[in-house]
Amino acid sequence: MTTDTPETTASPIVRLRSVSKSYRRGGQIVPVLEEITFDIAQGEFLALMGPSGSGKSTLLNLIAGIDKVDSGAIFVGGVEITALSESELAIWRGLNVGFIFQFYNLIPVLTAFENVELPLLLTPLNRRERREHVEMALRVVGLADRMDHRPGQLSGGQQQRVAIARAVVTDPTLLVADEPTGDLDRRSAEEILHLLERLNRESGKSVIMVTHDPRAAEQARTVRHLEKGFLADAAS
Ligand SMILES: Nc1ncnc2c1ncn2[C@@H]1O[C@H](COP(=O)(O)OP(=O)(O)OP(=O)(O)O)[C@@H](O)[C@H]1O
Ligand SMILES: [Mg+2]
Repeated sequence: MTTDTPETTASPIVRLRSVSKSYRRGGQIVPVLEEITFDIAQGEFLALMGPSGSGKSTLLNLIAGIDKVDSGAIFVGGVEITALSESELAIWRGLNVGFIFQFYNLIPVLTAFENVELPLLLTPLNRRERREHVEMALRVVGLADRMDHRPGQLSGGQQQRVAIARAVVTDPTLLVADEPTGDLDRRSAEEILHLLERLNRESGKSVIMVTHDPRAAEQARTVRHLEKGFLADAAS
């Protein structure tokens, strides 16, 4: 079961099969996710909600290939990422996933242009091609006139837009965002949500967004709730 929207007819972008994950703390094993099975449709804009500690970030990191499952399988765009080696996973991630974090995670000494260019340094694109891609991404987020600014010279909302440009510059199919509006005022948050919604609708990016904010969740097509490691009923 996924959602009751028409997108369910498309082949899923993400499939989770009996995914479990626990962490070790001291001598204890703390279960975080227990046997989670669900699909996320291609072109979906999913908001993942749930109480603090329920495992939302853990789930997002597993889907994005930045953390490893204990058991179960995850397929993204037909690739079983849980079967990839560490180095294969790193390459896969660079090509297929764009990340957006609550605190932007920009590099302070680099300009907006250089921050957005970073993921392209791992690709075969030459300098001129990289410039074209970076300028295009910064135009998409409305910051073509701020390319030479460093993060410290930008507002929170602008920094998050640079982070979104960095996330989309490699043209990934999947965008994952962990509380992307958590550090922003209402107006900047709305701009960021509008941008994510536009990338979903116009550029066909599948978006998975963890959020505590019901107004942010309203922008999504589908809302799912995580409760202590289990997915509760879908609501949208
Ligand atoms: N690296 C880690 N080592 C040990 N425990 C961890 C680790 N990462 C997460 N946990 C634990 O796993 C549980 C789920 O954490 P997670 O960060 O996924 O929650 P969350 O739903 O994103 O919470 P929040 O809304 O506060 O961000 C928590 O109990 C947390 O303490
Ligand atoms: Mg979290």
